[in-house]
Amino acid sequence: MVWLLQASRLSRTNLPRVILGVCGGIAAYKSVELLRLLTRAGHEVSVVPTLNALRFVGQPTFEALSGKSIKANLWDGGADVTHVAEGIGADLIVIAPATADFMARATHGLASDLLSNILLTATCPVVLAPAMHTQMWEHPATRANVESLRNRGYIVLEPDTGPLTGTDSGKGRLPAPQEIFDALQAQFHANTGALAARHIVISAGGTQEDWDPVRYIGNRSSGKQGVALARAALAAGARVTLVVGHMDIDPPAGAEVIQTKSSAEMHKALTGLMDGQPDGVIMAAAVADFRPAQQSAAKIKKADRYQNLELEPTIDILTDICRQRVLGTKPIIIGFAAETSGIREDLIALGSAKLAAKGADAIVVNNVSNGEIFGSENTEVLLIEVDQTVAPILGSKLNVGHAVVHRLAQLLDQVDSMSRKIKI
Ligand code: CTP
Repeated sequence: MVWLLQASRLSRTNLPRVILGVCGGIAAYKSVELLRLLTRAGHEVSVVPTLNALRFVGQPTFEALSGKSIKANLWDGGADVTHVAEGIGADLIVIAPATADFMARATHGLASDLLSNILLTATCPVVLAPAMHTQMWEHPATRANVESLRNRGYIVLEPDTGPLTGTDSGKGRLPAPQEIFDALQAQFHANTGALAARHIVISAGGTQEDWDPVRYIGNRSSGKQGVALARAALAAGARVTLVVGHMDIDPPAGAEVIQTKSSAEMHKALTGLMDGQPDGVIMAAAVADFRPAQQSAAKIKKADRYQNLELEPTIDILTDICRQRVLGTKPIIIGFAAETSGIREDLIALGSAKLAAKGADAIVVNNVSNGEIFGSENTEVLLIEVDQTVAPILGSKLNVGHAVVHRLAQLLDQVDSMSRKIKI
């Protein structure tokens, strides 16, 4: 199934219009948080609860947080032909929580309430976030329904595993609202295909500089931000090459992965890739600035404990690859800066100085004070560009990934249109 965002249907904020369907399950209360995330991000959201959902969350809550009156009953507002108007006016429908009953009705195309009617009139992407007890999720009827909905092109998210209503625990929890929000963002960006036919190189994780066969100098990078960037670039249609050092998580399926260990290996891999003229490079890896001047082939023994560890500088990979191209031409290169200050002005000054010193097109500045950011899911960064524009980005690392990738796509489009003008 091919889905397109139609420009004529964009909301007043130019962001996709979302229908948030809510079914009657205990997890309905979490849909309120999802609604908050969507409206805060600027989406126009119409909430369509089933009548059973309103047993769990009151209509005023949905109305106050969406800023719109709610229609839940198929028989309300006949003159507006609500199910058709809403269905064809939406850019995306997300149903969270989606109950076993609702998925069964959706599978068979039943139109027994307003939400299921809207689903039948809609042509936009549909994302279902199921929530139910493990036995219901694993029942052959539900398995068959999920398969059938997926075959139809609906995105059915996997439920989380953990405590369920009552004393039981297992698979069936509604995914966290932030996780659902991230899946929706990926869907929006996939539809725009902003990086279609582009080759993007991303570095991720931390380098390890050997001292002897047992010991190395490393850092606390988990690789999560680099992987999130790769996921965002893949969702935007790019061919992605991920050059990784040590990581705590798996790279995303779909990216071509080059495993490296030391900064020297990462440097070699990245300069080799530059020969292939990628469209963009994002240096999210935490590269060691120093390495042991001598590597010992044998394990350094306890008896050598007074030996000083002599260090020598490594190559600055980002500076080196930036030097290989003219600023403002392809590849567009975006670096990351790890700084320890909680003061915005300091972060901007440090980030701007680093951006100028490295010669990149933009830099993403992180405050790494206390080391809390390493391995964490959420983050807060500043994206600084050569013209000194500063854009704050916050939320999950995937959200930062989408925002950085989105800006990279815009910069690439600008470079291409400039070079077209020069040719004319
Ligand atoms: N970087 C690099 N090669 C290095 C060190 C850093 O390519 N040897 C890159 C990182 O991948 C990142 C950017 O440079 O994109 C900034 O890294 P950061 O650690 O914040 O700064 P440093 O250049 O190491 O400077 P300092 O440690 O003094 O802050």
